[in-house]
Amino acid sequence: MALSLVSENIAPLKKTHERKTFDCGNDRLNAYLREQARQDAEKRVAAPFVFTQADSPVVLGFYTLSSSIIPVAELPPDLMKQLPRYGQLPVTLLGRLAVDHSVSGQGLGEFLLVNALHRSLQSSQQIAAMAVIVEAKDQRAESFYRHFNFQSFQKTPLRLFLPMGQIVKLFA
Ligand SMILES: CC(C)(COP(=O)(O)OP(=O)(O)OC[C@H]1O[C@@H](n2cnc3c(N)ncnc32)[C@H](O)[C@@H]1OP(=O)(O)O)[C@@H](O)C(=O)NCCC(=O)NCCS
Repeated sequence: MALSLVSENIAPLKKTHERKTFDCGNDRLNAYLREQARQDAEKRVAAPFVFTQADSPVVLGFYTLSSSIIPVAELPPDLMKQLPRYGQLPVTLLGRLAVDHSVSGQGLGEFLLVNALHRSLQSSQQIAAMAVIVEAKDQRAESFYRHFNFQSFQKTPLRLFLPMGQIVKLFA
């Protein structure tokens, strides 16, 4: 299937989006999209965004964003030195990101990630966030995020972050 990677094809998850067939190879992420994502959106626990083709309601990829905080002490010392000495700092959590296996390897994962980073940057101009953090589900996911310059937290390598300063440069 040839994908049309345009931002108009990414939208907040709605009831009418078809999620039953979504399969990214990770049962927990599949079940999240099918069973939990709408509730999280309604309760404002997470904001799920989905990618569909213009002529179909079938979800081919998704990600979620939420506000979060991180303890400053978990950041690498060189970054810590540049920051105010508050115990905790505001960040945006990219909680989940996944692509249906029928369209993997066609750039959709990267497209969703860039869209999530752009949305995070825009919202940080209204509600501050000094980084985007991700919770990688396994080492393959960790290596995906590292490919895009995310760095691991000191004590929890499967949690990674990208400073907002670097995200600003991406879109400059
Ligand atoms: C990880 C995932 C989102 C990648 O999606 P995708 O659409 O297949 O990836 P893309 O085609 O956009 O790949 C973009 C780039 O990332 C690279 N890449 C993809 N998966 C990678 C991985 N696991 N490790 C390192 N690099 C990876 C590609 O080689 C490509 O690099 P290039 O542009 O330099 O050629 C997808 O495999 C997936 O949904 N996996 C299961 C769920 C998951 O692990 N989600 C992440 C944690 S919540």
